[in-house]
Amino acid sequence: MTKIFINERNKKGYIHPEVYGHFSEHLGRCIYEGLYVGEDSEIPNVNGMRKDVVEALKEMQIPVLRWPGGCFADEYHWKDGIGPKEKRKKMINTHWGGVVEDNSFGTHEFFELCRQLGCKTYVNGNVGSGTVQEMSEWVEYISFDGVSPMADLRKENGHEEPWKIDYFGVGNENWGCGGNMTPDYYGNLYRRYQTYVRQYHKDAPIQKICCGANVDDYDWTENVLKTCTAKPAPGNGNPGFMDGLSLHYYVHPGGWQDKGSATDFDEKKWYLTLEKALYMEELIKRHGAIMDQYDPDKKIGMMVDEWGCWFDVEPGTNPGFLYQQNTMRDALVAGITLNIFNKNCDRVKMACIAQMVNVLQSVILTEGPRMLLTPTYHIFHMYKHHQGAELAESFVEGNQTAGAEAQCRVPQISESVSVSADGTVNITLNNLSVSEEAPIEMFLTEMEPSRIEAVVLTGKMNAYNTFEEPENIKEEIFTDYKAEGRKISLTMPACSVIAFRIK
Ligand code: AHR
Repeated sequence: MTKIFINERNKKGYIHPEVYGHFSEHLGRCIYEGLYVGEDSEIPNVNGMRKDVVEALKEMQIPVLRWPGGCFADEYHWKDGIGPKEKRKKMINTHWGGVVEDNSFGTHEFFELCRQLGCKTYVNGNVGSGTVQEMSEWVEYISFDGVSPMADLRKENGHEEPWKIDYFGVGNENWGCGGNMTPDYYGNLYRRYQTYVRQYHKDAPIQKICCGANVDDYDWTENVLKTCTAKPAPGNGNPGFMDGLSLHYYVHPGGWQDKGSATDFDEKKWYLTLEKALYMEELIKRHGAIMDQYDPDKKIGMMVDEWGCWFDVEPGTNPGFLYQQNTMRDALVAGITLNIFNKNCDRVKMACIAQMVNVLQSVILTEGPRMLLTPTYHIFHMYKHHQGAELAESFVEGNQTAGAEAQCRVPQISESVSVSADGTVNITLNNLSVSEEAPIEMFLTEMEPSRIEAVVLTGKMNAYNTFEEPENIKEEIFTDYKAEGRKISLTMPACSVIAFRIK
């Protein structure tokens, strides 16, 4: 019997809604087809944005969207994506398939999309191939409310009011596709570029995000922080160089060279994948320990602005488009990872799964006018009540290990618990075992629930939704539990995720 003890009175920290964020890059069919079809499309749209996709994302409560990349960000020149569409420059998307990018989705379209979604904005600037002036002017174009060359240009292009930039990334993966820099070199560039990311709205400042490490590159974290937190010369005080430091981590069961199929895998690959997802905890702790040295008050957020499963592309699709299917394995990776983020909410203040539509671990896939919700979508939907809630203390006793028969060892149960502002307790549980159900007793400390709602997502390990059968995997009401006083007993199906809401 696995026991879960919950102290709903012991609050451990605020879960930033942005931890449930998303990422959309000019890559494959994410922006074009997935989100943006243009005003003249037969696919129902509002100002060019797909209605069906926008509605589903709103229902999932998307808190923030990162754009335009990714690797694409460091070769994106924003002025190519403004003004009359027929006059916009075309470019080659060198990173992703060498296709022609016609720049019909640019700054105005991104802010229109975020307006429709009702989410915060995260714009990623170009350090790798862009100038300080270009970055500075972009911020002025978007957010300056007054008379200036860039604000005037924005108005000429039809947008009188400035927009609000919530987060601004100063480069992306500058240790790799964003310029192959050393940490010292990038650290100094960060100091310089961020100086000109001006705060035009003093009451709603832009949060500046510095490019952090790839996976376990602790040296990058150490050296970038050392360079960026060193005080400027007296008289040149710039309080606080960064609000966030990013971290990128993708899960591939067999390593970068052997990502494997998204749908055709055995139990060994299942457990290897989940083991790799659990590694996120170690990455947060170890990068976090370095951050603690430079930022003991935890003012700088760890922004895991790219995470998720990266498998081989679907057979027959463009290898540069990174289109993959999404099974119950992806659902468990998402469930485990979001539980880890919740439990590290003192340091992790934003995260963006890669990527939102039609690329890598997407929540939505599209094909022409058709759309489906992936198992990962359902996890974000089931977990949405954690957004903005307080993490509560929880502890699993007697957790079994799973995967031994496949020469892996993972804990069978992953959990996290939060308390919403209205006192509702949110519990999200994952059963990582492919074959074993889990008898569970949960004990609340004080609350005797008068109302319990629960939903479950379950299916075979490699089950997924198709355009022909879009509801193979979907949330179902879960009633197979017993509540007595402060105790709730249940048997959790193998390979499942359950979300409880208790009042
Ligand atoms: O998400 C796909 C790519 O992965 C991004 O463009 C890049 O930042 C990362 O390497």
